[in-house]
Amino acid sequence: MNSKLSDIEIIEIPRVHDERGLLAVIEGGTIPFKIERVYYLYDVPSDAFRGGHAHRELYQLIIPLSGSFDVHLKDGSTTQIINLNKPHKGLLIVPGIWREIDNFSSGCVCLVLASAEYKEDDYIRNFDDFLAFKGL
Ligand code: TYD
Repeated sequence: MNSKLSDIEIIEIPRVHDERGLLAVIEGGTIPFKIERVYYLYDVPSDAFRGGHAHRELYQLIIPLSGSFDVHLKDGSTTQIINLNKPHKGLLIVPGIWREIDNFSSGCVCLVLASAEYKEDDYIRNFDDFLAFKGL
Protein backbone atom coordinates (compact mmCIF):
# COMPACT_ATOMS: atom_id res chain seq x y z
CA MET A 1 0.00 0.00 0.00
CA ASN A 2 1.97 3.00 -1.23
CA SER A 3 -0.44 5.84 -0.36
CA LYS A 4 1.30 9.03 0.74
CA LEU A 5 0.29 12.14 2.62
CA SER A 6 0.26 13.90 -0.75
CA ASP A 7 -2.84 11.78 -1.58
CA ILE A 8 -4.71 13.46 1.30
CA GLU A 9 -6.90 16.35 0.22
CA ILE A 10 -9.08 19.02 1.69
CA ILE A 11 -12.32 18.87 -0.27
CA GLU A 12 -14.35 22.02 -0.45
CA ILE A 13 -18.05 21.20 -0.15
CA PRO A 14 -20.19 23.29 -2.52
CA ARG A 15 -22.55 25.69 -0.73
CA VAL A 16 -25.70 27.60 -1.50
CA HIS A 17 -25.77 30.90 0.34
CA ASP A 18 -28.71 33.22 0.75
CA GLU A 19 -30.09 35.47 3.47
CA ARG A 20 -31.46 32.39 5.28
CA GLY A 21 -28.01 30.94 5.78
CA LEU A 22 -25.74 28.39 4.18
CA LEU A 23 -26.60 25.00 2.75
CA ALA A 24 -23.72 22.64 1.97
CA VAL A 25 -24.29 19.70 -0.41
CA ILE A 26 -22.36 16.47 -0.93
CA GLU A 27 -23.55 14.44 -3.90
CA GLY A 28 -22.08 12.28 -6.66
CA GLY A 29 -18.88 13.88 -7.85
CA THR A 30 -18.14 15.88 -4.69
CA ILE A 31 -16.12 13.03 -3.22
CA PRO A 32 -14.26 10.19 -4.97
CA PHE A 33 -16.13 7.28 -3.35
CA LYS A 34 -19.66 6.00 -2.87
CA ILE A 35 -20.91 6.63 0.66
CA GLU A 36 -21.80 3.35 2.38
CA ARG A 37 -21.75 4.60 5.98
CA VAL A 38 -22.16 7.82 7.92
CA TYR A 39 -21.20 8.25 11.57
CA TYR A 40 -20.46 11.17 13.85
CA LEU A 41 -18.62 11.95 17.05
CA TYR A 42 -20.16 14.32 19.57
CA ASP A 43 -19.95 15.01 23.32
CA VAL A 44 -16.22 14.45 22.92
CA PRO A 45 -14.17 15.51 25.97
CA SER A 46 -11.58 18.14 24.98
CA ASP A 47 -8.74 15.89 26.18
CA ALA A 48 -9.98 12.85 24.21
CA PHE A 49 -7.68 11.05 21.85
CA ARG A 50 -9.42 9.25 18.98
CA GLY A 51 -8.26 7.32 15.96
CA GLY A 52 -4.88 5.73 16.50
CA HIS A 53 -5.27 3.43 13.54
CA ALA A 54 -5.16 3.11 9.76
CA HIS A 55 -7.52 1.41 7.33
CA ARG A 56 -6.59 -1.16 4.71
CA GLU A 57 -9.24 -0.22 2.12
CA LEU A 58 -11.54 2.40 3.60
CA TYR A 59 -11.83 5.94 2.25
CA GLN A 60 -13.23 8.57 4.60
CA LEU A 61 -14.23 12.19 4.45
CA ILE A 62 -14.00 13.87 7.87
CA ILE A 63 -16.02 17.05 8.33
CA PRO A 64 -16.02 19.32 11.39
CA LEU A 65 -19.77 20.03 11.32
CA SER A 66 -19.32 22.19 14.39
CA GLY A 67 -16.19 23.28 16.24
CA SER A 68 -12.69 22.08 15.48
CA PHE A 69 -10.10 19.36 16.11
CA ASP A 70 -6.63 18.33 14.95
CA VAL A 71 -5.98 15.34 12.70
CA HIS A 72 -2.43 13.94 12.88
CA LEU A 73 -1.60 11.98 9.72
CA LYS A 74 1.28 9.60 9.06
CA ASP A 75 2.17 7.64 5.93
CA GLY A 76 5.16 5.95 7.58
CA SER A 77 7.67 8.51 6.28
CA THR A 78 6.06 11.87 6.89
CA THR A 79 3.77 13.39 9.52
CA GLN A 80 1.30 16.23 9.07
CA ILE A 81 -1.17 17.90 11.42
CA ILE A 82 -4.31 19.44 9.96
CA ASN A 83 -6.68 21.55 12.04
CA LEU A 84 -10.21 21.09 10.72
CA ASN A 85 -12.46 24.00 11.63
CA LYS A 86 -14.77 24.79 8.72
CA PRO A 87 -18.00 22.84 8.10
CA HIS A 88 -17.61 23.21 4.33
CA LYS A 89 -14.08 21.78 4.25
CA GLY A 90 -13.69 18.03 4.63
CA LEU A 91 -10.52 15.99 4.90
CA LEU A 92 -10.29 13.07 2.47
CA ILE A 93 -8.24 10.24 3.99
CA VAL A 94 -7.28 7.45 1.61
CA PRO A 95 -6.47 3.88 2.72
CA GLY A 96 -3.09 3.19 4.31
CA ILE A 97 -2.77 6.40 6.34
CA TRP A 98 -2.36 6.41 10.11
CA ARG A 99 -4.56 9.01 11.84
CA GLU A 100 -4.94 10.34 15.37
CA ILE A 101 -7.47 13.01 16.34
CA ASP A 102 -7.25 15.30 19.36
CA ASN A 103 -7.66 18.90 20.54
CA PHE A 104 -11.47 18.76 20.24
CA SER A 105 -13.18 22.07 20.86
CA SER A 106 -16.13 22.20 23.23
CA GLY A 107 -19.38 21.11 21.57
CA CYS A 108 -17.54 19.81 18.53
CA VAL A 109 -19.35 17.49 16.09
CA CYS A 110 -17.22 15.42 13.71
CA LEU A 111 -19.06 13.85 10.78
CA VAL A 112 -17.44 10.95 8.92
CA LEU A 113 -18.55 9.67 5.51
CA ALA A 114 -17.09 6.27 4.75
CA SER A 115 -16.78 4.09 1.65
CA ALA A 116 -17.77 0.83 3.38
CA GLU A 117 -19.73 -0.48 6.31
CA TYR A 118 -17.94 -1.05 9.61
CA LYS A 119 -15.55 -3.97 9.47
CA GLU A 120 -12.98 -4.45 12.23
CA ASP A 121 -10.79 -6.47 9.83
CA ASP A 122 -10.18 -3.31 7.85
CA TYR A 123 -8.48 -1.62 10.82
CA ILE A 124 -4.74 -1.66 11.55
CA ARG A 125 -4.58 -0.64 15.21
CA ASN A 126 -0.91 -1.28 15.95
CA PHE A 127 1.68 1.16 14.57
CA ASP A 128 4.31 -1.54 13.93
CA ASP A 129 1.71 -3.53 11.98
CA PHE A 130 0.99 -0.33 10.04
CA LEU A 131 4.66 0.09 9.13
CA ALA A 132 4.78 -3.56 8.03
CA PHE A 133 1.63 -3.00 5.93
CA LYS A 134 3.44 -0.07 4.28
CA GLY A 135 6.47 -2.29 3.62
CA LEU A 136 8.63 -0.15 5.94
P1 TYD B 1 -13.04 3.62 16.33
O1 TYD B 1 -13.18 3.60 14.85
O2 TYD B 1 -11.82 2.99 16.93
O3 TYD B 1 -13.18 5.11 16.87
P2 TYD B 1 -12.24 6.39 16.65
O4 TYD B 1 -11.42 6.16 15.43
O5 TYD B 1 -13.19 7.52 16.52
O6 TYD B 1 -11.41 6.53 17.87
O7 TYD B 1 -14.35 2.95 16.95
C1 TYD B 1 -14.65 3.00 18.33
C2 TYD B 1 -15.56 1.83 18.66
O8 TYD B 1 -16.79 1.95 17.94
C3 TYD B 1 -14.96 0.48 18.27
O9 TYD B 1 -15.31 -0.44 19.29
C4 TYD B 1 -15.66 0.11 17.01
C5 TYD B 1 -17.00 0.80 17.13
N1 TYD B 1 -17.53 1.25 15.82
C6 TYD B 1 -18.65 0.64 15.28
O10 TYD B 1 -19.22 -0.31 15.87
N2 TYD B 1 -19.12 1.06 14.08
C7 TYD B 1 -18.54 2.07 13.40
O11 TYD B 1 -19.00 2.44 12.28
C8 TYD B 1 -17.38 2.71 13.96
C9 TYD B 1 -16.69 3.85 13.24
C10 TYD B 1 -16.91 2.27 15.17
